[in-house]
Amino acid sequence: MAAIEINQINLSFPAKQGQQQVLEDISLVLEQGEFVVLLGPSGCGKSTILNLIAGFTHPDSGKVHCQGKSIAAPGPDRGMVFQQANLFPWLTVRDNVSFGLRMQGAAPERVQAEVQKFLQLVGLQAFADHYPWQLSGGMKQRAAMARAWLPNPDVLLMDEPFGALDAQTRLMMQELLLSAWQQTGTTILFVTHDVEEALFLADRVLIMSAHPGRIVDEVRLPFGRQRDIETLVQAEGYSEIKQRILHRVRSEARRHLNN
Ligand SMILES: Nc1ncnc2c1ncn2[C@@H]1O[C@H](COP(=O)(O)OP(=O)(O)OP(=O)(O)O)[C@@H](O)[C@H]1O
Ligand SMILES: [Mg+2]
Repeated sequence: MAAIEINQINLSFPAKQGQQQVLEDISLVLEQGEFVVLLGPSGCGKSTILNLIAGFTHPDSGKVHCQGKSIAAPGPDRGMVFQQANLFPWLTVRDNVSFGLRMQGAAPERVQAEVQKFLQLVGLQAFADHYPWQLSGGMKQRAAMARAWLPNPDVLLMDEPFGALDAQTRLMMQELLLSAWQQTGTTILFVTHDVEEALFLADRVLIMSAHPGRIVDEVRLPFGRQRDIETLVQAEGYSEIKQRILHRVRSEARRHLNN
């Protein structure tokens, strides 16, 4: 069974004059444990696709299923990480990360064990008692990742989670994410504008066009899963694939600007 299956989704939002069609005939399948990256120009509907899977938005027509079940509302089987960490400023890292579990009324021993496990996964054990204002941008995003991962979701939806970080921190976060993903086996749908980030992370890259948002290309990456950035950039086929994706993304962005 697929982790996520989207079938012929159409979606419009109210606009100044009538309706604006945002997504047109979107179909996609995420296999169990797959890491898929969505790339496309600003406004093409990437966040809207994540919102549909999260259950925040509903399609005009078409179907969205998670583990074979129709998605009607948000649920703990789907975690979300946004560009901004959105931590509660008055709670420590430990209390931020465990917030959902505590709200569900979980036993304190279980909460403690789970928080320990997920803080370790993102390398924040030493900062459990810090407040968000005592953390760097990368550390805040690591706490947000631990919070989303803690309920052990089937699917993690990540909306440009490293977009606001500097290049060095971003690379470190990408390595950390790959290692956590390999340890948990969670299915990931990750949105970015950064082609190199997509090449480092993905099993498969989906390229979108805008107005209306459609999936126009799919690239399956042949680089294996044990990726190291320094050897990856020298791998056979890397430059050609990067060129192909860059070209496609740039021409979609230009077409969008000229419309
Ligand atoms: N709740 C809403 N009401 C009306 N229009 C919306 C709503 N949410 C999104 N849109 C419109 O839908 C389109 C797609 O938005 P979306 O945020 O999914 O794009 P995106 O691909 O994530 O862009 P970016 O890369 O800039 O984050 C945009 O034109 C946006 O204005
Ligand atoms: Mg977006």
